[in-house]
Amino acid sequence: MFRRPPLNYRHAFHAGNFADLVKHAGLLLLLEALQAGEHSLNIVDTHAGAGGYDLEGELSRRTGEAAQGIFRLMADDGAPGVFDGLKAAVRAGNPDGVVRFYPGSPSLIAARLRRQDLYTACELRDDDLALLEQTLAPWRQAEARQADGYETAVAATGRAKGPAFVLIDPPFERADDYRRIVETWREVKRRNPWACLAAWLPLKDMETFDAFLRDIEPIAPDALVAECRLRPLNDPMKMNGCALVIAGAPAGLEGPLGEVCAWVAGLGEGQGRGEAWRLNG
Ligand SMILES: C[S@@+](CC[C@H](N)C(=O)[O-])C[C@H]1O[C@@H](n2cnc3c(N)ncnc32)[C@H](O)[C@@H]1O
Repeated sequence: MFRRPPLNYRHAFHAGNFADLVKHAGLLLLLEALQAGEHSLNIVDTHAGAGGYDLEGELSRRTGEAAQGIFRLMADDGAPGVFDGLKAAVRAGNPDGVVRFYPGSPSLIAARLRRQDLYTACELRDDDLALLEQTLAPWRQAEARQADGYETAVAATGRAKGPAFVLIDPPFERADDYRRIVETWREVKRRNPWACLAAWLPLKDMETFDAFLRDIEPIAPDALVAECRLRPLNDPMKMNGCALVIAGAPAGLEGPLGEVCAWVAGLGEGQGRGEAWRLNG
């Protein structure tokens, strides 16, 4: 049985930063592709956070990370069309035109739910869970659950329940997050081979990233890797970039995800690189 870890991480410190742009623009592109038919989609967000964030709140202002993320994107009228969905969501949350509220994955997913879809958002912290419940209250098909996200994903995406999408976005405060992602992918894919799973990862050093890709290769030999490096990965103490690694990604997403990563990589200090590619592609 999973024992509840000490939880220090709060996403409000990082909301709207460069890594959120990759994750959230990628999430919207994925959802659009996965919802292309009439079939229902069973969505699990294993690490949901608060649902949405006030960029003028104390936690966000303390780091100021959104300045090099969503504020740059919203100010760039020439940004590629792959960001249109994210920009529209931010505009919808800020009807007076001033960017103050930033949507987390729950707000973005909930706004796209169709009548036939189901969405389970997991969060362990009491404070963020309360905010998440408020965020999701308007959507009948959405449930905020105080439960371990990895266990919930496995339980909720069994074969009988049809097409599934799992977003895994841990804080990486614990060394076992990489191992638990791999175990969750293996178990979900065993129960539901058609499931699409997306994991967000920080890029610090090459060894950790390569080891993760080696571990998931037997489970998802054609996984799509959307990789955004702000700078070369030679200082493992820094978050030098991020990646979205996707099993069961619909065809045709390499180009759009590559564009997302390339634009975000340009927010760095000049040696950035962004691309999307398939394992064994
Ligand atoms: C990176 S944040 C999530 C951000 C969110 N996915 C978004 O894009 O808006 C990670 C969250 O996971 C929560 N968390 C940590 N371990 C968890 C677990 N095992 N199950 C569910 N939630 C967890 C943390 O409290 C934190 O709020």
